[in-house]
Amino acid sequence: MFEKVAIFFMTGTGNSYKIAAWFAEIAEKLGLAISMQQIKRAKLNIAPDGKTLCVFTLPTHGFTTPWLVVKQILHLPRGSGAAAVVLPSRAGTRIKGVSLPGMEGTAGYLAACLLFFKGYKVRGVMGVDMPSNWTALHWGLSKENAEFIIAAAKPRVQHFTKMVLAGKVYFASILPLIIGIWLAPVSFGYLVVAQFMLSKLFFASDKCAGCGLCARICPKQAITMTGKRNQRPYWTYACDSCMACMNYCPAKAVEASPILAIVFYYLTTIPAAAYLLNSLCKDELAGLLLNWGIVQYIYILTSIFLAYLILHTTLGWRYFSMLLSRLSHTYYFRRYHAPDVTVKDINRK
Ligand SMILES: Cc1cc2nc3c(=O)[nH]c(=O)nc-3n(C[C@H](O)[C@H](O)[C@H](O)COP(=O)(O)O)c2cc1C
Repeated sequence: MFEKVAIFFMTGTGNSYKIAAWFAEIAEKLGLAISMQQIKRAKLNIAPDGKTLCVFTLPTHGFTTPWLVVKQILHLPRGSGAAAVVLPSRAGTRIKGVSLPGMEGTAGYLAACLLFFKGYKVRGVMGVDMPSNWTALHWGLSKENAEFIIAAAKPRVQHFTKMVLAGKVYFASILPLIIGIWLAPVSFGYLVVAQFMLSKLFFASDKCAGCGLCARICPKQAITMTGKRNQRPYWTYACDSCMACMNYCPAKAVEASPILAIVFYYLTTIPAAAYLLNSLCKDELAGLLLNWGIVQYIYILTSIFLAYLILHTTLGWRYFSMLLSRLSHTYYFRRYHAPDVTVKDINRK
């Protein structure tokens, strides 16, 4: 039925890369021509036709599709009858021997919907539980638990792959979609506000050697190295919080600070500028719009940007970065990335 399989994966910590690799393994055994590309900031190389199956694997962020995947799908050429399947990975966990599933919400179906509008024939969507990688929020899973979850995911992906390559249509469940629609306000808030704030919680501790690996592996090129002699990473608003930097740093120097979260909270909930604008504004409706609309949004982003810039400068003082890191929960947290997935795998040309 298909002659070519074009696999596109976005990955922070290797989970979605693993799903892509399992798909490729089976397609290869069936003698199909395979291409595998990482979804990064660069343009995707794709020439879809009726004999091609396009496979998209991606992490779930905020119960939906990460910005990077949304943008890249929007930039794809028209599908020209090519088929497509979407496999979002989600946060599986295992606590005291009990496995708990993640929730992908609209992550798979939003990507599928965009592909449909681009002229692709969507033939399957399935969420896959992989070890949760949100290490800015929680302790990384133990090797044993991670391997258990991965071992359970593999046969599901293999089954899905065989079915789709045999020409079957495979939509695993629409329950996540229903929950995802219900959670749409949360996903919207995540994509337009929370994600920007999360990117500004990252900082490099005194352990940072300035090697620049974090900047090189960032799929969105959202990290810039600053400083002449002692280089340090600076996280821009382009960051998708994929966790590659935090989990692949060889010095375990990338931290996320709760103190910064508190500072940002006060900065954004007591927007002095917006209140000032409101009191200055005579027209009530215009005042309301100014206060809670775009002005509020710009205020939030600008104040966080400036606060982070000041912090970044201050972090140049070693004792300060040492103190901030020791006061950060992530300093004591275990890191996670998919076992056997190397920097080379997640940082393709
Ligand atoms: C910022 C962020 C948000 C996340 N949001 C969700 C979520 O809403 N639902 C879920 O099941 N998993 C969520 N996860 C977990 C990841 O989707 C999951 O661990 C995924 O397998 C990571 O894949 P990757 O290693 O290919 O990036 C989130 C992870 C991060 C870092």
